[in-house]
Amino acid sequence: MRKNNRLLLWLLPVVLFPSLLMAASTIDGQLVYDRNCAMCHGAQGVSVMASAPSFKRGDGLFKSDTSLRDRIRTGKSACPPFIGRLKDQQIYDVISYLRTLYP
Ligand code: HEC
Repeated sequence: MRKNNRLLLWLLPVVLFPSLLMAASTIDGQLVYDRNCAMCHGAQGVSVMASAPSFKRGDGLFKSDTSLRDRIRTGKSACPPFIGRLKDQQIYDVISYLRTLYP
């Protein structure tokens, strides 16, 4: 039982941050970002749309990769859904890029 708990503890980072396991690429993520997100969230994450979060300030980033992934898949109000437009790997790539924008 105690052994199982320890195993779960080791797995927790992978459950919360699957991009660690999926070897997300921030370089590919930047390409995805520049093509699909920058028109609202701005180059380097300085938002160019009043209602869009500035990733440079860390807006909207204090979540696990899995909840960011779900949000990017389904969209939210003016943020379009990317399910069917981006593969999960591309979504994890863009998340890992987003995490480089906030100092
Ligand atoms: C047409 C403009 C537009 C585009 C394109 C866009 N977004 Fe957004 N995004 C928004 C707006 C506006 C919000 C704020 C939504 C709200 O909270 O009502 C937002 C919110 C978000 C949030 C925060 C959601 C939360 O939980 O509060 C994330 C993360 C995000 N966008 C990621 C992305 C990514 C990644 C892309 C590209 C793959 C992208 N967005 C493309 C406009 C856009």
